[in-house]
Amino acid sequence: MTLSCSAAGTRPADVDAIGVPVFSGDDGPQRADGVGLDAAHCKRRGFTAKVGQTLALDGAGGHLEVLVGLGERSRLGRDGLRRAGAALVRAASECASASFDLDGAVPADLDAATAARSVVEGAALAAHRYVRYKSNDDPPALERLVVVAGDADAAGRGVERGSVVAEAVVLARDLVNTPAADLTPAALADAASEVARREGLSIEVLGEEEITAERLGGLLGVARGSHEPPRLVRLAYEPPSAGEGATVPTVALVGKGITFDSGGLSLKPAGSMTTMKTDMSGAAAVLATLGACRRLGIGVRVVGFLPATENMPGGRATKPGDVLTTRNGKTIEVLNTDAEGRLVLADALSLAAEEQPDAIVDLATLTGACVVALGRSIAGVMGNDDRLVAAVREAGARAGEPTWHLPLPTAYRTLIDSEVADMNNQGTPGQAGALTAGLLLKEFVGNVPWAHLDIAGPARSEEESGYVHKGATGFGVRSLIELLEQYEAFGGTAAPGPTGELELP
Ligand code: BES
Ligand code: MN
Ligand code: ZN
Repeated sequence: MTLSCSAAGTRPADVDAIGVPVFSGDDGPQRADGVGLDAAHCKRRGFTAKVGQTLALDGAGGHLEVLVGLGERSRLGRDGLRRAGAALVRAASECASASFDLDGAVPADLDAATAARSVVEGAALAAHRYVRYKSNDDPPALERLVVVAGDADAAGRGVERGSVVAEAVVLARDLVNTPAADLTPAALADAASEVARREGLSIEVLGEEEITAERLGGLLGVARGSHEPPRLVRLAYEPPSAGEGATVPTVALVGKGITFDSGGLSLKPAGSMTTMKTDMSGAAAVLATLGACRRLGIGVRVVGFLPATENMPGGRATKPGDVLTTRNGKTIEVLNTDAEGRLVLADALSLAAEEQPDAIVDLATLTGACVVALGRSIAGVMGNDDRLVAAVREAGARAGEPTWHLPLPTAYRTLIDSEVADMNNQGTPGQAGALTAGLLLKEFVGNVPWAHLDIAGPARSEEESGYVHKGATGFGVRSLIELLEQYEAFGGTAAPGPTGELELP
């Protein structure tokens, strides 16, 4: 069951639960609409209106009244509203329908549409669960949310966009949560074809023979150890304005699509392998983002590349010491078959760069080292163009997807030197693992402005919290959508900017 969201100028009489936003403050909780609260009751129940805190009361007329904390008024932003929407959905899970009173809860620096969008993003994401393999009925969940606002038209526009964004994140989550046995590279390509058909995207799917013909040696090298044949998917979204002769920028998106990462012959220990169906989160994010472009009226051309394969230790698998020749002719010595993501991305980035787009953004669950550096909630961003990196990070901030800029020091290039080939895929164990992976990718983007997001940490959550469930998070979808929505503001220059190069002794 998906949550259906709408906007209205006044609260419908037939909703079961009424969501009442409440700010925290020195004088205790204050309703956003200014109506008085039973402060003593709130105090007894420990309700201080922290962001995402709720208190259910018996309202007049048999309604459930849910007080929804927004935190301090001056600190409320888009993510607070997402968390408020999610909290209402969780607190009203036994109800069929709920309203949320937006007036008075819109922060000064936001418009009603963006505020409504944020509430809906959080609510719809909290409401969705992955139940494909659960034999019991769906858990109880809210079915209808009405955002009530004086400017119902603006709220309606926000609700519409928020629904599209949440649907995209849900698609990414569902693909990532699907077990590897059922989401093979071919199945991922089929899912892409289905999205393309529905959303009017053009699509090309290369099978094993075409991948060989196109000399994608990195992708082939990883696929060798598996019985499942690889796929290379190229998707394209053409904005309506392009048909009217306007010159529009092109953004290329690349997503790591390892449908299962066993490590290959450099086999992972059992405990590290349990969640490795997640290793196609980058590809899922790119596919889901492209699938949302038409309905969001994105104004730039978007092309997506998904290199998809399993990483398995079969009898014909690539062996440590083997050398792969990639699409752009550069050679990579495979010292560790578990560093497979950069091998498939090398080819996909080359394909993207050949089209000379205005920018390339790749997403990949690439390194455990990035999780060590930044933890489970923050993605690492690296790149060759500080303006693009900044634009990606700002998009992430608007999206509620935190990132941090990591450097790609030229001096560290020696860490991926190889005895026999142009580079090795392992780096130097124990040293800057996220950066050496990024430095290898940089060899394949030529002079195109490029940003790389290492999402190994945030692609999966081990906790239930707010609009995130245990399992796939869909991280990156909202950031990419924000980036594309506001891409014109960045300008889409083809000239790489400063690289933020660090002076090293
Ligand atoms: N898919 C993993 C990275 C990963 C780790 C993602 C944990 C999500 C959670 C990647 O392919 C990998 O195995 N990387 C190796 C690289 C190393 C062998 C140079 C790693 O990080 O250990
Ligand atoms: Mn690996
Ligand atoms: Zn991997």
